[in-house]
Amino acid sequence: MQPPVDGPHMLLQRSAVFYRQKHLLAIEGLQPPEIGQLLDLADSYVLLNRSGKTQRDLLRGRTLINLFFEDSTRTRTSFELAGKRLGADVINMGVSSSSVNKGETLIDTAATLNAMHCDLLVVRHDQSGAPNLLAQIVDAAVINAGDGTHEHPTQALLDALTIKRRKGRIAGLIVAICGDIAHSRVARSNIHLLTTMGCQVRVVGPPTLIPAEVADLGVTVFHDMAAGLAGADVVMMLRLQRERMTRGQIPSAREYFRFYGLDQEKLAYAKPDAIVMHPGPMNRGVEIDSAVADDPVRSVIKEQVEMGVAVRMAVLDMLSRGNRRNEP
Ligand code: CP
Repeated sequence: MQPPVDGPHMLLQRSAVFYRQKHLLAIEGLQPPEIGQLLDLADSYVLLNRSGKTQRDLLRGRTLINLFFEDSTRTRTSFELAGKRLGADVINMGVSSSSVNKGETLIDTAATLNAMHCDLLVVRHDQSGAPNLLAQIVDAAVINAGDGTHEHPTQALLDALTIKRRKGRIAGLIVAICGDIAHSRVARSNIHLLTTMGCQVRVVGPPTLIPAEVADLGVTVFHDMAAGLAGADVVMMLRLQRERMTRGQIPSAREYFRFYGLDQEKLAYAKPDAIVMHPGPMNRGVEIDSAVADDPVRSVIKEQVEMGVAVRMAVLDMLSRGNRRNEP
């Protein structure tokens, strides 16, 4: 039998609200109680979603606009689903069919949406800092859905929720983040979140794909999978972001897989109960072998996707608490 569902609303009514910021632009700078509370709220949304109940009154009358200047499957769909499950009116703005194609600037596009009184603006852009810029000019709460190589905060939150539910804790774990660190906003957000919450974070990959300054973020750098994965509780694989690469950063996909692709042989360096994560989209046979990606015991990749909806519901809920119209 399912445990009784304690409504997410009740969770925050019983305790102080730690997250008091208008926007969610980055993980960097968030404090452990803010992250912890977002994760607890998201956890209660997992239970709500699994119970089949809804909370459509929470964002009734609110408008959420998904403004994606880069492709997305998981993030855009889960924000849409999260908004709808909470009762918001959700609009997906297809940039390829918008006036951006006629030369309208990012700022003019945002000012136009602002004039329509949208409440929540979810933004993905290939330029680092674009959501921060928009947050300065719109009235809506802005959520960063991935900006250039800077941050992808909701991805790090859903990864942390997956880890917490699987391992029972976050603090004290050894997490190896492997692959294209240089171009990964997912890596940056995860490094900030996991070090803030007390993990030992390692980054593993070829020297060409690990910027020297990453060591300043409190991580240990490895260029060898055997050493980097030794004793790890969590192995997080990253996609090779060829679209952001300059030429010559990897020799060939085949050679990359030989040294850095996660297969069962390399996974054996980690703890026997280590979990395998990947934010998606995956390049099978490049950074991860299908046998590992589809391993029903070790891989939590599908669970990450489920957690994505719950985390985005929690973020929409939390941000709208400070900004509800017509409420005292
Ligand atoms: N992980 C992630 O951001 O996936 P999408 O690009 O499909 O949104």
